[in-house]
Amino acid sequence: RTYRIAVIAGDGIGKVMPEGVRALEAAARSHGFGLELDWHDFASADYYVRHGRMMPEDWKEKVGTADAIFFGAVGWPEVVPDHISLWESLLQFRREYDQYVNLRPVRLMPGVPCPLAGRQPGDIDFWVVRENTEGEYSAVGGHMFPGTEREVVIQETVMTRHGVDRIVRFAFDLAMKRERRHVTSATKSNGIAITMPFWDGRVDAIAQEYPDVTRDKYHIDILTAQFVLNPQRFDVVVASNLFGDILSDLGPACAGTIGIAPSGNINPERAHPSLFEPVHGSAPDIAGQGIANPVGQIWSGAMMLEHLGEAEAAAAIMSAVEDVLQTPAGRTRDLKGSADTVSCGKAVAASL
Ligand code: NAI
Ligand code: MG
Repeated sequence: RTYRIAVIAGDGIGKVMPEGVRALEAAARSHGFGLELDWHDFASADYYVRHGRMMPEDWKEKVGTADAIFFGAVGWPEVVPDHISLWESLLQFRREYDQYVNLRPVRLMPGVPCPLAGRQPGDIDFWVVRENTEGEYSAVGGHMFPGTEREVVIQETVMTRHGVDRIVRFAFDLAMKRERRHVTSATKSNGIAITMPFWDGRVDAIAQEYPDVTRDKYHIDILTAQFVLNPQRFDVVVASNLFGDILSDLGPACAGTIGIAPSGNINPERAHPSLFEPVHGSAPDIAGQGIANPVGQIWSGAMMLEHLGEAEAAAAIMSAVEDVLQTPAGRTRDLKGSADTVSCGKAVAASL
């Protein structure tokens, strides 16, 4: 079959996109499926300069019928303030397409220097499952008496049973597909005395549906310490929007570099397209030099194929990435190698 992919490179090193696409096309050839790629120039600073907005009014007609969205990075603060570039593009996709799961693998790859002493590939291999549509990131609150001695600022956390249940269930379903079948829940029910006990209660309730999955929970403060001290404990970690945001940057940092980390913004019901993008941003400090590591984009492509049901092709991309990362000639300089963006990308495609 043929998959329709909306391709949005965005800004700066988001333009490593051709290397992501090169790997997808190689995987499609070797695994017998087709790709129909629609490249879009919006969700970028260039588009903003030309049109005064990040995306066209009819952006949903342009990407809504795609099977998935393959995204680079957005942001060029010299031209567009970051809160505008992000809210008018990426966050539109997440909310309009109900991509309520933000999924990030945390895996130490061979060839990647680990900042945690003494860790080998295999020691660090887990998933962070972050709630992506509600929780602490709400627009509910108020600002009273601004600029006076009586100033009061309130920002509410919003948790719904529907929203918590579906993310927790996703985490348990994911654990069922893993060897260890273990779920860790991030909480703070000692300090955050209304929403977090509710979260804990829903985790307890849903866990009853999964007798084969073991579980534990940690308060978020000690959980961050455990990520660094005992990363081998984790298998699937489920967290609210804010806690998950923190953990899903900390996790990949513990496993080496954000230059290779991928993420999925997923609508598991497939009512809408899901979006796959590297964890890193547009990296203005190295953009245009041809040295950015393309592995984050390539790995995001593998996650996208897995989501589309092409698990074998996804696995083939990952073993090609592992091959290439083994040798200094395959690695870009952020990983102490001598490759540039294109040579690294070509090596992955060749290995495929
Ligand atoms: P960043 O991820 O762009 O860069 C952080 C540091 O990591 C920089 O020193 C950069 O050179 C390095 N780096 C990142 N990716 C790399 C790669 N593939 N290979 C080699 N080195 C790499 O984060 P920063 O600087 O905070 O943000 C820059 C812009 O990107 C901002 O406009 C920000 O809003 C945007 N951004 C966009 C994201 C997205 O599209 N999802 C995510 C994060 C930031
Ligand atoms: Mg983040």
